[in-house]
Amino acid sequence: MADPSVTAPIGGLPPGAAEISVPDPCLLVIFGASGDLTRRKLVPALFGLHREKLLPAGFSVLGVSRTPHTDDSFRALLAEGAREELGSGFDAASWDAFVPRLFYHPGDLLDRAGYPALRDRVRSVCALRGIPGNLLFYLAIAPKHYGSAVLGIGAAGLSAEEEAVPGFRRIVIEKPFGDDLASAKRLSAEVSSVFREEQVFRIDHYLGKETVQNLLVFRFGNGIFEPLWNRNYIDHVQITAAEQIGVGSRGDYYDGAGAVRDMLQNHLLQLLALVAMEPPISLSADDVRDEKLKLLRSVESIPADRVGEACVRGQYAAGTIRGEAVPAYRQEKNIPPGSLAETYVAARFTIDNWRWGGVPFYLRSGKRLAGRSSEIAIRFRPAPYRLFEDTACGQMESNLLVLNIQPDEGIYLQIGAKFPGPSVCVQPVDFRFSYEQSFGAKSKPAYGRLLLDAMLGDPALFPREDFVRVSWALLDPFLTRWRENPGRDLYFYPAGSWGPREADTLLTREGRRWRTP
Ligand code: BG6
Repeated sequence: MADPSVTAPIGGLPPGAAEISVPDPCLLVIFGASGDLTRRKLVPALFGLHREKLLPAGFSVLGVSRTPHTDDSFRALLAEGAREELGSGFDAASWDAFVPRLFYHPGDLLDRAGYPALRDRVRSVCALRGIPGNLLFYLAIAPKHYGSAVLGIGAAGLSAEEEAVPGFRRIVIEKPFGDDLASAKRLSAEVSSVFREEQVFRIDHYLGKETVQNLLVFRFGNGIFEPLWNRNYIDHVQITAAEQIGVGSRGDYYDGAGAVRDMLQNHLLQLLALVAMEPPISLSADDVRDEKLKLLRSVESIPADRVGEACVRGQYAAGTIRGEAVPAYRQEKNIPPGSLAETYVAARFTIDNWRWGGVPFYLRSGKRLAGRSSEIAIRFRPAPYRLFEDTACGQMESNLLVLNIQPDEGIYLQIGAKFPGPSVCVQPVDFRFSYEQSFGAKSKPAYGRLLLDAMLGDPALFPREDFVRVSWALLDPFLTRWRENPGRDLYFYPAGSWGPREADTLLTREGRRWRTP
């Protein structure tokens, strides 16, 4: 365990706030080290932790992938990635101090014969850097290879927490964990044949976002919202994760996954659970995760033959983003010309419990949309009688609360106010909390926080196996329907729009409409 007396201050903490523990030295072994995730997210996040003095002296990274690299060429690749990612925030002097922590080992994770050499390299880097034996594996590889990597690690004896060699063995597994219920169960069985549940950290980086963590504080740390948080006051909820970027260089992975597996099964269902769950009895990892699980189990499942009424998929056609012409999904790199993968999904769920009975939750996510925004919008019921309906300014909207996850991190509440002047005229105005204005900075990238938690062995922000299983069970009828008829419920939308028009009808037929974030 980390020594709790060894702590590092975080800049700007208010007096009395807890300090963050610095973990014990460990070796982070990243499978998929020459890929995008390592270069663009993981290493820049680790560099951030290094600069904040949250990494212990010996902490090191051993990158593993098939690409031939030496330690030096690997370091150069990562420097380039960090420079691109951090822009003017890249500081060359700090990078020079960080770089001795980085090592590389060429190896094919599918080739069992290569694991003994990896084990030797792990030992030699640990000896060189004074790491007592703590190993954290990170699978930043194609999801279809997770099982092989885990079994390879096990067969090489790298997962065993031996008494002779003190220290922990843990593994971080990226999402999607499986690609349907059956494969998720199979993968779970493989993982649990090598690691115990408390050694497994399934990552969903949305949970590492400050604004997502703030959901619990907002709901349960303030007395005034919770009494309103139910079917008596809330008309419906919209959860949106909209992106302007396209599939980029990830076509190989994305075309087999699509938006349902890439975003809905994990990020969006996690947000749904956090916004709708009951208050946990404590903030302990399992108390919070128990409540999230209970909520997810209360979501009404939609049988395959009714999926068309509750879900619309889309794929982007050519269009314009920020004034620039962009190609259709089917013309992107590594995408087959007749691909039927969805780059957009919108779905309507209901929750069968006392708090939420009858309140629709509309979830949507898409690439190449008109704007970039992740938010949770709570639309309240209108005032019970419409005193101001006939005022000069026309129809008044009911109150709206928006929890903005990114990019304008903050919260706002829209209320009606009297427009100044002699006549009674009601106009919507906002109460706003801006994360940046209140705390003097944008929030930090999610990966840093999550990597640190995995090193500290804190599972609170990582989905548990049962949650993952229930989320797949909920979506399995969707996947079955599209497996049998791949083009079903799929419509095209021009890049730069808000998705297929058919998605609007999910709401308009109930007298509602999507918000434009
Ligand atoms: C990832 C998905 O999990 O989340 C990507 O695989 C997506 O397709 C990304 O672009 C979005 O994350 P963020 O933090 O930019 O909203």
